[in-house]
Amino acid sequence: MSSGYLDKRFVIVAGKGGVGKSTMCAALGLAAARAGKRTIIAELNTREKAPHFFGKPDSGYDAQEIFENLYSINIQPEPALHEYGLMKLKFERVFKLVFENEAMQRLLRMVPGMNELILLGKAFNLERERTRRGDPVWDLIIVDAPATGHGVSLLRLPQVILEVSRSGPMAEEVRAMRDLLTDPARTMLNLVSLPEEMPVKETIMLADQVEQILRIPKGYLLINGVFPVLATAEERGWLSTLGEAAGGADPRLGRALTCIDAMVARRDLQEGYLAELRRRVPLPAIEVPFLFQREFGFDAIDVISRQLADVMV
Ligand SMILES: Nc1ncnc2c1ncn2[C@@H]1O[C@H](COP(=O)(O)OP(=O)(O)OP(=O)(O)O)[C@@H](O)[C@H]1O
Ligand SMILES: [Mg+2]
Repeated sequence: MSSGYLDKRFVIVAGKGGVGKSTMCAALGLAAARAGKRTIIAELNTREKAPHFFGKPDSGYDAQEIFENLYSINIQPEPALHEYGLMKLKFERVFKLVFENEAMQRLLRMVPGMNELILLGKAFNLERERTRRGDPVWDLIIVDAPATGHGVSLLRLPQVILEVSRSGPMAEEVRAMRDLLTDPARTMLNLVSLPEEMPVKETIMLADQVEQILRIPKGYLLINGVFPVLATAEERGWLSTLGEAAGGADPRLGRALTCIDAMVARRDLQEGYLAELRRRVPLPAIEVPFLFQREFGFDAIDVISRQLADVMV
């Protein structure tokens, strides 16, 4: 790994469904924005999460500022295709002629991966966008990748297309995408996992695919939802004796102690998975604590963001 994520342009966050990818994108985005990087979080045709963490409504296809210096966009295939078509064809009239006829629409629906390619293409274009003065519009693009399998096939598309067509305007476009994805100076892929059985299995598999198939430069492994160490073995013994004694006297106290015991047991269970992740996933690991908050919103993102800023930059 050459340097921290703040020096990159294209930071991808991938992992199994529900492990906290969108949370990490928001936290990384917030830290980058605070460090002075003009940052955009790109969600790919999904139920938006990024703006909600910052108390904002959906962004849709128009980038919305959700915090000072931090933007979000939900890239959808139709407006992305429209934008791309206009960029290439210059005139709305010509675009309509080419893209809005039934045969073309059918073709687009039929070609597998076409929608995904359009989504990736727009994300890629965010990296190429320049101001009138020629500076990049975005310093940092954070891509909230679809869950495991979908994420891999999406990120693999440019390579797959290049394997079947090596020349022509399409190949040129796609080659530039592949070059960005595999450029360690600009791109970094981070994995998110949880210290639980299924996420650990998928993360090991995913890390392997990143290495063998995608060849995208690897960043960090973010292990989310790590429970605190609440008690030593000795304290645990003491707690259980206390529980037996107190439970008889006041059942509420007994229940409270059972609750603490369950948390201690959960951490114990996590230990094994943490060790397995560290052993089998060849990325520097960062543990992100489980946050005991009733409302998982800006405050949670803020805590995680400050913690990541300390170790990832
Ligand atoms: N460190 C944490 N502590 C406590 N709760 C968390 C933590 N991280 C995430 N969560 C909870 O898990 C929820 C899901 O997280 P998130 O939406 O980031 O997952 P995801 O991987 O993006 O899911 P999907 O695959 O559905 O897009 C959050 O809304 C939050 O309630
Ligand atoms: Mg998500």
